[in-house]
Amino acid sequence: MVHPVKPDLRIFPDVESLSRAAAQGLMDRINATVLGGGRFYLALAGGNTPRVLYRVLAADYRHEIRWEQVHVFWGDERYVPPDDTRSNCHMARETLLEHVPVPAKNIHPMPTDYAEPEEAARAYERTLKNFFTGLWPRFNVVLLGLGSDGHTASLFPGSSALEEKERWVVEAKGPAEPRQRLTLTLPVLTHSDQIYFLVAGPDKAEALRRALADVPDSRNCPAAGLRLGRASVVWWADCAAATLVETPSPLGSADLRSTVTGGEDG
Ligand code: 6PG
Repeated sequence: MVHPVKPDLRIFPDVESLSRAAAQGLMDRINATVLGGGRFYLALAGGNTPRVLYRVLAADYRHEIRWEQVHVFWGDERYVPPDDTRSNCHMARETLLEHVPVPAKNIHPMPTDYAEPEEAARAYERTLKNFFTGLWPRFNVVLLGLGSDGHTASLFPGSSALEEKERWVVEAKGPAEPRQRLTLTLPVLTHSDQIYFLVAGPDKAEALRRALADVPDSRNCPAAGLRLGRASVVWWADCAAATLVETPSPLGSADLRSTVTGGEDG
């Protein structure tokens, strides 16, 4: 049994304006969550699109967000040293974390210094289990990008990582260098409270169309699979990426959400 839910697609003129809107939304969510003194669990995205959001947060939200109560994780990582410019952690430190007062002890990068990536994946799982005691971790917000092939994090079309139903973190292989990756698994992502997709540029138009298709094909478009869990998904897109998607009006594609999401969270 599924309940059709329209995708929460928000379209902006360009990556700068979508990033500014996403930053405002993130601030509202963080500050509302930590009001009672709680923690906020945020998973960062890699790649290039999030750079703009991170720079907006660093420039305009240094004092507007209660960063001291935010714990930062990553949705995926390239298996390169942390000082490698291709590292997602390196990019986030450079554009955001060196400019806002997130305590160093609250920053939890995926380790890339184990001889075997599988060992690193298991080590990150242990790190996550220091913060999340349930069957699945519950991130407050997971930031994600969308690849032009429909991948997200390091969950690539047709990959065995998409079949993982128990592990929280697995190693993965991307089609382009650096091929060796670590990634959160689909169940972890879908059990988060909220997902923010950041999608900009004409090269993402076909992937966004497929991600929002009426019947999600998560094997060939992993990003579509994130619509099938408990997470509420906001698609922050620019006009260039949204050219093939019907406007988010009653004519928009229905978003299917299973009422049975598995796991203790349901
Ligand atoms: C990565 C990301 C990856 C990225 C997409 C989109 O490590 O590169 O996890 O999933 O979000 O490939 O990348 P762009 O934002 O650079 O287009």
